[in-house]
Amino acid sequence: MSGTVRADRMLLTGIGELVTNDPAPGRDGGALGIIRDAAVLVEGGHVACVGSGTTGGDLEFNDLEIVDLGGRAVIPGFVDSHTHLVFGGDRADEFAARMAGRPYEAGGIRSTVAATRAASDRELRARLAGFVTELHAQGTTTFEVKTGYGLSVADEERLARLAHEVTDEVTFLGAHVVPAEFADTGAEAYVDLVVGDMLAACAPHARWVDAFCERGAFTVEQSRRVLEAGRAAGLGIRVHGNQLGVGGGVALAVELGAASVDHCTHLTDADVAALAASDTVATLLPGVEFSTRQPYPDARRLLDAGATVALASDCNPGSSFTSSMPFCIAVAVRDMGMTPAEAVWAATAGGARALRRDDVGVIRPGVRADLVELAAPSHLHLAYRPGVPIVRRVWKDGALVSPPAR
Ligand code: NIG
Ligand code: FE
Repeated sequence: MSGTVRADRMLLTGIGELVTNDPAPGRDGGALGIIRDAAVLVEGGHVACVGSGTTGGDLEFNDLEIVDLGGRAVIPGFVDSHTHLVFGGDRADEFAARMAGRPYEAGGIRSTVAATRAASDRELRARLAGFVTELHAQGTTTFEVKTGYGLSVADEERLARLAHEVTDEVTFLGAHVVPAEFADTGAEAYVDLVVGDMLAACAPHARWVDAFCERGAFTVEQSRRVLEAGRAAGLGIRVHGNQLGVGGGVALAVELGAASVDHCTHLTDADVAALAASDTVATLLPGVEFSTRQPYPDARRLLDAGATVALASDCNPGSSFTSSMPFCIAVAVRDMGMTPAEAVWAATAGGARALRRDDVGVIRPGVRADLVELAAPSHLHLAYRPGVPIVRRVWKDGALVSPPAR
């Protein structure tokens, strides 16, 4: 990666509070596995060793860059498991109209489809690069990107290819909404295209398939066709479900063994029980309810039932134009019944779980050295200081990505 600085061996020392997400005897914070007065040795882009004590024990110090954190906290890089970052234009006017009382509807997606089709590769690539800088500056080191604003074979392939230039976590979301040109032929004809030529064109660039299973988008049976076809093409399954009302999205996701079902704003008791009994992560997206002025999902209900909860930004121009995981944490703590520890876990290890990754979202020997230094003594400040840019320095694969090298 250009513009980054990486020492072969680096010792972060003087860490006042290290959130490892690796609980072990002697560590605090339950699932956060907190070590106080900690040090982390990074070698070749990976975590080599984690320990307490500011000197790093009996490590050798030849050719070693030593970085003293002066008592500040370190957490794993955020894992944002749900974004829609390849698009043209924006929908600020729609946001303003919503804040004046107009409800959010899935159909607004079509205006971004028109703007995205009109944008050149160069424009979309420049936009993506800007978002990557924005994500890094806010502590996000792993992120998923969905297609879904192309909705033709050529445009979906283009979005998947461009997304794959910035992340390995690409999701094919041809089933986002039925595009305007299918108004006469109908949704079934569009789904035929999605499971046929469109999937074939996108699958080589993607790891995941997704469907927006919601009133105004796709029915359970249409979503099932898309998800099963994606699975047959070798993709893992994720689902947009239960955002605008109760429906079959969550049940379908659990039935198909999806890695994650995202939104989960309107859940029946049966949905909650099914999630709790499954490996499917419930990914909550507080930016959506904030930006559409809807009631937040009830994280407490899911956690108390035993479901695994992740937090993600859903960064997109329509329902949630924030890329800030600290913002999502603050809202989840303030309004969704999560403790700060649960929210920080959900935005790091939870996101990793939603992407079925065990090499990120945790700080232990062998994982990627994706580390965030906070300008604060504790992870509590992520929720306690909403809106304040407390992400100080960010390393991805052991390289400093924020602030960017000059
Ligand atoms: O996750 N729910 C579907 N897709 C996006 C909204 C996209 C848009 O409004 O452009 C979401 O909220
Ligand atoms: Fe989404």
